[in-house]
Amino acid sequence: MYSVNGWKELSGKVKISGSKNAALPVLAATLLIRGKITLHNVPQIGDVLTFLEIISQIGVTYRFEGSTLFLDTTFLDLANFNADMIKKIRASILLLAPLLHYFGNISIPFPGGCSIGKRPIDAHLNGLKSIGYDYIVDEEKIQITGSLLSGNIELNAGFGVTSTENLIVANVLRPGITTIQLSAIEPHVMNLIGFLRAAWAKIKIRYNHIIIIEGVEMLENTIEYDVVSDYIESGTFMVIWALCAKEYIDIENARYDDLYAFIAKLREAGVRIEHLGNDVVRVWRAHELKAVEIQTNIFPWFPTDIQSPFVILMSQAQGISRVHEVLFEGRLNFLVELEKMRGHVAILNPHQALIFGKTPLTSAQVTSWDLRAGAAMVIAGMIATGETKVTNIEYIERGYENFIGKLTKLWADIKKV
Ligand code: EPU
Repeated sequence: MYSVNGWKELSGKVKISGSKNAALPVLAATLLIRGKITLHNVPQIGDVLTFLEIISQIGVTYRFEGSTLFLDTTFLDLANFNADMIKKIRASILLLAPLLHYFGNISIPFPGGCSIGKRPIDAHLNGLKSIGYDYIVDEEKIQITGSLLSGNIELNAGFGVTSTENLIVANVLRPGITTIQLSAIEPHVMNLIGFLRAAWAKIKIRYNHIIIIEGVEMLENTIEYDVVSDYIESGTFMVIWALCAKEYIDIENARYDDLYAFIAKLREAGVRIEHLGNDVVRVWRAHELKAVEIQTNIFPWFPTDIQSPFVILMSQAQGISRVHEVLFEGRLNFLVELEKMRGHVAILNPHQALIFGKTPLTSAQVTSWDLRAGAAMVIAGMIATGETKVTNIEYIERGYENFIGKLTKLWADIKKV
């Protein structure tokens, strides 16, 4: 549990860590390579450590030196693989493509993770079926068997992030041309493509969400690559600085361009944000905020993963703000926690809510409904009177590297108890 004491004024600067959602697909893709891989800027967070534990059961060895991760993927086999580990994190769905590549058939339980909605995987399975793998799905597990077809094939990723990533990984070594329609183009998808290109995969990106892959026979076996910094962590900190900075706080590796739609909404609400160059962003404390409307959507629109932190900012804005969470029907559930702190909200349906402000928040014991909503409750605690207790913090630690350490370094009063 975190104990958060509110109304501390923060000052200093912060550096953004490597992105969870970029590191995980790159780790999955390392399984296509038999050799030695060096990855820089890897965040040491719960989901990455769990993912490493899973792939170490398939034979991968690894060691960290700071944020640099050295992996050896030379010897892979399934003899010691405990498929139950898959249940621990949703991102283990990314193992479908590399496991099929080596072992031709797999039987794994449904991946677990944050409970933010239904999270179907039809785009993954239908894509794999089109390239030669049949599947049977029951309540507990997914069984896939088959063998890879050659030739030119068109697939539909349905704008899903991990479905696009799985389909890319499944096709880089497939003989023929693969055209992936309705691809996600989030920065982490681009980072995966960059990694595979560094290993000599042939991948082109068209302007209209189309990715074209020309299968190659093998990938380079010694690679060094940088994981991109986390634009979601950066956006989360922008909200915190707008609410809690003494004057202003600078963010290094801020991913300004990737966050443009989000930053536009912060500015519309009255937050002063300066882009200082070299990817440093200065966020000023906002003393008067006004209500805004947001709608989450696929990149480059407002990211669903920073919707809940932004809602805390809305609770401090004058007027009625509206949230439309398009992607996940569970991502407004956390509003019941905000109500425990005397936040004033109206949930219109699973995808839409109104936030009434400006509402002074009071401390309470609240829980993390998911990773991002957990971070949102810490932010709520930082602007509430008294001590707020945030439980279920393992969600937060799955995805934010040293979240509390970074905040306390800037004089926030937060303790893990
Ligand atoms: N969808 C389908 N069918 C599919 C796949 C997705 O209908 O086969 C729909 C989903 O229902 C949802 C939408 O597509 O409405 C987006 O889901 P997506 O597949 O893109 O989500 P994901 O790949 O499971 C990744 C991130 C999430 C992030 C979403 C959206 C990783 C490991 N996870 O999930 O990150 O919210 O994309 O950007 O990259 C987080 O970091 O807190 C997190 C949950």
